[in-house]
Amino acid sequence: MSTFKAPKGTYDLLPPDSATYLAVREAIAAPLRGSGYGYIETPGFESVELFARGVGESTDIVTKEMYAFETKGGDRLALRPEGTASVLRAALEANLHKAGNLPVKLWYSGSYYRYERPQKGRYRHFSQVGAEAIGAEDPALDAELIILADQAYRSLGLRNFRILLNSLGDKECRPVYREALQTFLRGLDLDEDTLRRAEINPLRVLDDKREAVQKQLGDAPLLRDYLCDACKAYHEEVRELVTAAGVVFEDDPKLVRGLDYYTRTTFEFVHDGLGSQSAVGGGGRYDGLSEMIGGPALPSVGWALGVDRTVLALEAEGVELELPATTSVFAVPLGDEARRVLFAKVTEMRKNGVAADFAYGGKGLKAAMKAANRSGARYALILGERDIEQGVVQLKDLESGEQTAVGMNEIVAELESRLG
Ligand code: HAM
Repeated sequence: MSTFKAPKGTYDLLPPDSATYLAVREAIAAPLRGSGYGYIETPGFESVELFARGVGESTDIVTKEMYAFETKGGDRLALRPEGTASVLRAALEANLHKAGNLPVKLWYSGSYYRYERPQKGRYRHFSQVGAEAIGAEDPALDAELIILADQAYRSLGLRNFRILLNSLGDKECRPVYREALQTFLRGLDLDEDTLRRAEINPLRVLDDKREAVQKQLGDAPLLRDYLCDACKAYHEEVRELVTAAGVVFEDDPKLVRGLDYYTRTTFEFVHDGLGSQSAVGGGGRYDGLSEMIGGPALPSVGWALGVDRTVLALEAEGVELELPATTSVFAVPLGDEARRVLFAKVTEMRKNGVAADFAYGGKGLKAAMKAANRSGARYALILGERDIEQGVVQLKDLESGEQTAVGMNEIVAELESRLG
């Protein structure tokens, strides 16, 4: 123990568990890479204003959860609470949308920061893999993203997740709905804060988790009944395309997301084994975001899947990923001369693509063999003085326990062929 601990709401990823996180990131990224999405990386912090305008001035993320600070140079920056605004900012800045190839499809993986009340599944530092398809209004693109997320979860072996789908309308029909909802909310018995929220952002009230509020929302008008013809037709086509792909979803007319930039298609992936923090991922269309941050009209759609919660979902379902052992061969030298010879062999093996490790620190045979077993390696290579004289090395199969002497000059080729 040192004097210091990981900050509240954060945790360290350590071996062997960290291997699962890498595998989850990889499993989410794989279907994106195979579908024309290019990798993008943006800074961990951005101008506060980008998130205020993009995510929304009245959202919890911006008002309560942002790690915002002023730099020594007087800039107002914030650790990124999400990826969409940054990715769109970067795409606009680099004029990717002008290269004549829309949509611009990008994927990313990284750390995000929200000053939330920590609990299981809710952290102040967490990790997402996300995808954004910028500059096209096409229901097939919305469908593609939903299908790829489903594919990613399934490739990990997850089964107990559900896809919730909704449409939030567009700038034609949403204002009409907003007003109808406001009129309805004004007639309810709500506390002052909630009434204020109803004036600023009435849709957010639908998302209020308190029972006293939910009880009164039974007869609230639904956006579904206010969608304009264009939004209705668009949504219907997304639903048909997703269904045709064999992906099952549930219509959730009350689904509102915690970020203000959404229009039309919105969706969330929830896992039933996670308790209150059940959203393992979410996303949707954000046709107005580009203009909100000073860009041209660029209808876009995307999602982000939470890596931390996906790992919790795997645990909840008892899924153990098949992770290949990282070390194939563990070298055990007995004595100084053996150490020099075997260390050179290990270097040679590594150059030939055989994952190898070495018993460092002058361990005796017993301790070194223990380390070999713990490493997960399939083979141990043991070299003693007599072996050196005979020009051989002992190759021990750690699964069967079988041991054979192999010529020093043949050992690398022998291991390469055995490990396939
Ligand atoms: P979000 O729903 O805020 O959406 O976050 C996406 C996912 O990140 C959540 O479903 C959850 O798994 C994970 N997550 C969020 N906050 C936390 C937390 N405090 N602790 C652990 N995991 C968390 C977005 O961020 C949008 N940018 C998604 C998007 C992309 N929409 C369009 N494109």
